[in-house]
Amino acid sequence: MNLQMTAIFDPSAEGGWEADQLVLTALDALKNASVPLSRFRVGAAVLTQRGRIFEGCNTESLIPVLGVCAERNAMNHALIHGETGFLAVAVVSDLHSPLLPCGTCLQYMQEFARQQGRDILIIAEGRSGDRIVTSLDELFKGGFPPETTVLDIQESFRWTAE
Ligand code: THU
Repeated sequence: MNLQMTAIFDPSAEGGWEADQLVLTALDALKNASVPLSRFRVGAAVLTQRGRIFEGCNTESLIPVLGVCAERNAMNHALIHGETGFLAVAVVSDLHSPLLPCGTCLQYMQEFARQQGRDILIIAEGRSGDRIVTSLDELFKGGFPPETTVLDIQESFRWTAE
């Protein structure tokens, strides 16, 4: 992770933000978790390039496959408002220790990070107050090779349909 990334949380800088503000927004969203299956609450908040914050909580259904993580709901919340430039994502949960985003959410995040040609700061805070500050590139080494184009993927769909 480079220093430029953590600089977005310098409140004295122009357009700077407090990491605490992002974590507090995630904590507020956690209260709305809709979790009939697991009873495990997660909250997330995304900071966008335009300086806006969008929150999300995990949502579950009695059909388990319909569940969506808090992080993806927060990113989708930003997308619905036309925001695709994600700078940072904060995650909180009912766990004592910090919970880092799952692989599915990291894959989803990476697709937007690549469009922007940037890394994304990730802040996870546990009930204990312990905080992990890391980044997408540090956590996720998977995904399509960066040079993959939409056409490459469409081509493979055509191939498997034959
Ligand atoms: N969950 C999240 O929302 N984010 C994570 O990073 C891991 C897990 C949710 C999914 C499900 O609703 C519940 O937590 C239990 O796995």
